[in-house]
Amino acid sequence: KEYEYIVVSERDGLGFIELNRPKVLNAINRPMVSELVHAIEAFDRNDNVKVMVLSGRGRAFAAGADIDEMAEDGAIDLELLNQFTEWDRLAWIKKPIIGAVQGFALGGGFELALCCDLLFATEDASFGFPEVNLGVMPGAGGTQRLTKLIGKSRAMEWLLSGDMFTAAQALQWGVINRTIPKELLMEETEKFARKLAAKPPLSLRLIKESVHKAVDSSIYEGMQYERKNFYLLFASEDQKEGMKAFVEKRKPDFKGK
Ligand code: HXC
Repeated sequence: KEYEYIVVSERDGLGFIELNRPKVLNAINRPMVSELVHAIEAFDRNDNVKVMVLSGRGRAFAAGADIDEMAEDGAIDLELLNQFTEWDRLAWIKKPIIGAVQGFALGGGFELALCCDLLFATEDASFGFPEVNLGVMPGAGGTQRLTKLIGKSRAMEWLLSGDMFTAAQALQWGVINRTIPKELLMEETEKFARKLAAKPPLSLRLIKESVHKAVDSSIYEGMQYERKNFYLLFASEDQKEGMKAFVEKRKPDFKGK
């Protein structure tokens, strides 16, 4: 499929998605969201892809939703448009998504980053929710995901102030996994993605699902879920192979079944 606002490529078990509106710092318009969801779902169904990497071209990851596009909208327009059901589909993606953030990740761009499972960022990246300065607020999960991730006090500071925070701060608060020198961002992210891509895919899948459950439920409920997924993996050939290889002191050959 041809895309207008993103660039998609695939190699060596990895699926790459790049936001591609660099002139407007990858401002996320609605067609871009449709394309993103389409591309990510296609990678999720593609057996050749084990792990996805999401990044932005130019000097930003994404500086937010496209302000021009929504400036004149009314509440009823938005209700009828129901655009966030598209964003919701990102929460159902089964394969790991690594976000590689350079430059700005603001507003909807930050929310998109928070949909990733792991985040690597350049040392000069900045994160923020400037919506408050526009008389609005985050709408694609920002108040919920950020608060679950870093706790109420820190989330309040971030969301109420609208300030931009450095990658160092984001790292300290546990929003991102690591900072990487700018020139090495894609290389290091890809290296990590390759590491994951060599793991048994069913384990990755059920671990991701279980971690999501932890964020979204009581410990006890989440543990029941974890247990079921743990049992389920013992129905896979990769479990037999993985454990047998260990016992036989050789490298396992995972098949994704
Ligand atoms: C539309 C945007 C944009 C955005 C940048 N641009 N962000 N256009 N929507 N969110 C455009 C600028 O208008 C400009 O276009 C070009 O990108 C380059 O940006 P500059 O402002 O010239 O760059 P700079 O001076 O370096 O400032 C960078 C910046 C600033 C601090 C990131 O661009 C900025 O404040 N952007 C808006 C950030 C924001 O408020 N995001 C939240 C949006 S609301 P021209 O044509 O002039 O060159 C949101 C709600 C989410 O995300 C709801 C759920 C989806």
